[in-house]
Amino acid sequence: MCGIVGYVGKKNAENTLLEGLKRLEYRGYDSSGIAIVKNGKITSKKAVGKIINLENLLSGKNLDARIGISHTRWATHGKPTEENAHPHLSCDGNLAVVHNGIIENYQTLREELKKKGHKFLSQTDSEVLAHLIEEFYEKKDLKHAVCEALKLVEGTYGITAIANDNSDEIIAARKGSPLVLGIGDNENFIASDVAAILGYTKQVVYLNDGEIARVTKDNFEITDLDDRKIDCEISKIDWTLEESQRGGHDHFMLKEIMEQPRVIVDSTRGRLLPEEGTVRLGGLEDVEAKLRKIERIIIIACGTARYAGLIGEYMMEEYAEISVEVEFASEFRYRKPILDEKTAVLAVSQSGETADTLAAIREAKRKGALTLGIVNVVGSTIARETDAGVYNHAGPEIAVASTKAFTSQLVVLTLMAVLLGRQRKMSEVTGRRIIEEIETLPKKIEKILKSADKIKKLAKKYADYPNFMYLGRKYCFPLAEEGALKLKEISYIHSEGFAAGEMKHGSIALIDENFPVFAIAPKDSVYEKNISNIEEILARKGKIIILTTEGNKEAEKIADDVIYIPKTLEMLTPILGVVPLQLFAYYIASYKGLDVDKPRNLAKSVTVE
Ligand code: G6P
Repeated sequence: MCGIVGYVGKKNAENTLLEGLKRLEYRGYDSSGIAIVKNGKITSKKAVGKIINLENLLSGKNLDARIGISHTRWATHGKPTEENAHPHLSCDGNLAVVHNGIIENYQTLREELKKKGHKFLSQTDSEVLAHLIEEFYEKKDLKHAVCEALKLVEGTYGITAIANDNSDEIIAARKGSPLVLGIGDNENFIASDVAAILGYTKQVVYLNDGEIARVTKDNFEITDLDDRKIDCEISKIDWTLEESQRGGHDHFMLKEIMEQPRVIVDSTRGRLLPEEGTVRLGGLEDVEAKLRKIERIIIIACGTARYAGLIGEYMMEEYAEISVEVEFASEFRYRKPILDEKTAVLAVSQSGETADTLAAIREAKRKGALTLGIVNVVGSTIARETDAGVYNHAGPEIAVASTKAFTSQLVVLTLMAVLLGRQRKMSEVTGRRIIEEIETLPKKIEKILKSADKIKKLAKKYADYPNFMYLGRKYCFPLAEEGALKLKEISYIHSEGFAAGEMKHGSIALIDENFPVFAIAPKDSVYEKNISNIEEILARKGKIIILTTEGNKEAEKIADDVIYIPKTLEMLTPILGVVPLQLFAYYIASYKGLDVDKPRNLAKSVTVE
């Protein structure tokens, strides 16, 4: 996820672009840059880090342009360096492009362009766009060149482009990554979302996938890539700036919960090989031979990431037949872990900066273990210091309580289980079955999200209980712990997750009519056992919410309330099951009027031990 802003009009372009970028900073801010055209020449400036660094770089430069494009980056390919920051320029410097999305076939395109003599300065997928457009720019028709280039591109993009000898127009195109045109008075804007332009205009046109726009200061026209005209509708925005950054939702947490169908698509994009019943994880290719020899994996993580790791443990043991242990990162270094060349240590971390996880990885490295990472923030310390790894591609997570990062961690752990399993005894048929099921998950999550209102009502009913117990077995035991964590961290209700079978050894003493239980009991291999535990609670007059699989009418006979999720493979159930748990916690906290995105005493990234 990156942010794009383009401007053409009568104002000072660089100031307008900087203002817009600042409002998109929530989309990522590891580097930023702008390109303007003035007197037939493109000037580009880039800076690593927050947008203030770009602002400082530009101050006193007085570019004083009337047209330009800009970008704030959330790295997906290549480290957050100045070279990798956007805009990217053609070899002759006459074209500049900014891009949001992922070009899946960039390696093939890059090789072909290199053979034609193009020189690449960055490691990004995006830079191929600048060179590809240059290839088609011989007629000096920028829109035509962009159309021809995009016809060769696989993947997703929201792009804007400018050229030195078309100094009154910006070309913008969209497929999979959002772009909106802001219609002003003798000025027009292009941005990744309305937050960037709300200060200037309320009139917008949303670009659809496959559409391309030519935008000048007093006109815009939209066509498809074959130049067929498209009629568009001008919408009026009545959101405040803050509402627009949250996509119209009350909190970032809700926005991030709602983004999960897209996140699954992004974290699997280009990685699934259904024909071969396996996956391609570019970040692990260099260590593939070593991975074949691994007999044991130690997963280290904290908080939500650790619960994802615990679910990964079940996956890898069942499907890859590798022995897995999951450690609290904060405990790992105080033990005497037995590490050898057959052990890999895998850190799971959204931020890639958690001090305990980092310290554990350093300790594992010191002892000579192969270190791996599943990290969301590209170029973060854990991503840099591990020997190899896989990025989540979940986009920036702003709310302290982790939601979409968790589902993307589970997806990546599934992909790793398939990769390791296929290196060992997993059959092609099993691999294919898992991959085909992963492909259905976005639609299934969308279905769950449509029932958010039902969960909201349930949250209201239970919001005043002071305690909660979450129960689950097998894949759903760590999920029960994650459900309890979500509730306690944002609503401050005391809640604990237990292994359903363990409850009878002590925790059941807590149960009475004022201590509700959230039982996660999908129709899987341990369903009957779960029902026995639920009966034990009912015998003690406990209140029960059951989370189970669609069609299971039995649950309605025994539970006070039932939440349904679509059927999926047992190993993938937590990816669906977590969504109602997130919504339940979210709605309880918002009923209580709490600061959902910034709960008391917590931090998004804990960089102290
Ligand atoms: C903090 C956050 C949690 C997160 C944990 C691990 O405690 O509040 O939401 O799960 O850190 O963070 P990481 O960035 O390593 O996943």
